[in-house]
Amino acid sequence: MEKIIIKGGRPLRGQVTVEGSKNAVLPLQAAAILAVQGTVTLNNVPPVTDVQLMNRLLRFLNLKTAYGEKQRQLVINGSVPLSSEAPFEYVNQMRASLLVMGPLLARTGQARIALPGGCSIGARPIDLHLAGLRKLGATIKQDAGFIDARCDHLVGSRITLDFPSVGATENLMMAATMAEGITTIENAACEPEIVELANLLNKMGGRVHGAGSKVIRIQGVYYLHGAEYTVAPDRIEAGTWMLAAAVTNGDVIVRNAAAAYNTSLIAKLEEMGVTVIKQEDGIRVLGTSVLIPASVKAMPYPGFPTDLQPQMTVLQLLANGTSTMEEHVFEQRFNHLEELRRMNADFQIAGSVAILDGPTRFSGTEVAATDLRAGAALVLAGLAATGITQVCNPQCLDRGYYDFYQKLHQLGAQIDRFDVKEKFKIKPEQPRQENKGSEPE
Ligand code: UD1
Repeated sequence: MEKIIIKGGRPLRGQVTVEGSKNAVLPLQAAAILAVQGTVTLNNVPPVTDVQLMNRLLRFLNLKTAYGEKQRQLVINGSVPLSSEAPFEYVNQMRASLLVMGPLLARTGQARIALPGGCSIGARPIDLHLAGLRKLGATIKQDAGFIDARCDHLVGSRITLDFPSVGATENLMMAATMAEGITTIENAACEPEIVELANLLNKMGGRVHGAGSKVIRIQGVYYLHGAEYTVAPDRIEAGTWMLAAAVTNGDVIVRNAAAAYNTSLIAKLEEMGVTVIKQEDGIRVLGTSVLIPASVKAMPYPGFPTDLQPQMTVLQLLANGTSTMEEHVFEQRFNHLEELRRMNADFQIAGSVAILDGPTRFSGTEVAATDLRAGAALVLAGLAATGITQVCNPQCLDRGYYDFYQKLHQLGAQIDRFDVKEKFKIKPEQPRQENKGSEPE
């Protein structure tokens, strides 16, 4: 079993560089399915396991992928006949596998996608994806754990999303690029990752307008081709480093962090007494020993990002008084708080609101990461804690952070990661010895 071990109490100091955005890359990888000619070359692609998993799925669908970790460059070639089935093993491991549904349908006229299993941050249905594809003319059936979507060809339509789902907006944008006529997506998600996807689709010959606003219009084209695109820095990774600096009362320059994509976080940090300085090469964050409590609402963009909600609650718990966190994107995204309770956190949860009573003197113990961002929150709490914190299940963090603990180590944290069996030379269980009666069993 692997663990991250942290000896807390050291302020972080120095510089850290943000990788390309994981949540932007995944739909861009899926969009490569639409290129019937040429290759899609993506630069600044982070070496995280979700990206590898999407590549494996693309290869399963018959596309070719080549990734150079050093150059951070991914080349995808889909100018071959494609298969249309995404099996359970992929979709269950990563919900973003669903993003192949729209482009597969547009390109091949069918997509057979395994239904994702339960997810640790709420029910996460896919009804909006399916309703939108039906509006574009697809026939959708559910059969033996699979969604079977088919169409002769897709036809542009007006789709109004009940909720501005990021994934549904992306899937429908990709499907609509090759639909006949114009598609309008109303109440679309406005996240920067939507703009990234539109940028690539337009470079591939698509005609997508209004991405980043509530209404996106897509004029269908006959075919899309290869293109090259450089992925923007990861705003969630940037935010995680900013919060890491704040929870340790440190002084960190987060290189490549874009202030424009983190305005809601910056506003809350400043409200809590943290100093945020926008620089040419990134953002400098200087902590404070007296944090002011704050009320935060995790909302669709440009609201406070739900993917920084767990990390933010650690800072709120350190503040001098009562803070609140409202979660308006995912139900049950407070799993990390129960782990933090084991580190001394005092809070109550009432529906979608967590009432957080500070100041907390976090004390190190063994805790378990339940998902990527919950894992990041536990590490942050460990950095602020007295004593030793052991975070089990650190593989969760590899899904979206590259070299997370090494980067923290470079910022001065006392942190290590190892396989417990290796470190303590735990041998595989021996066959049981006969009890000689000297020791009680
Ligand atoms: C994406 C991000 C994830 C982020 C989330 C919200 C990627 C790979 N993942 O996830 O990190 O936390 O956006 O910013 O980019 N919903 C429905 N029906 C649907 C689809 C969604 O009810 O058909 C609901 C979900 O259950 C959830 C809410 O809408 O409550 C938001 O989900 P959505 O925006 O779709 O998140 P993802 O695209 O899965």
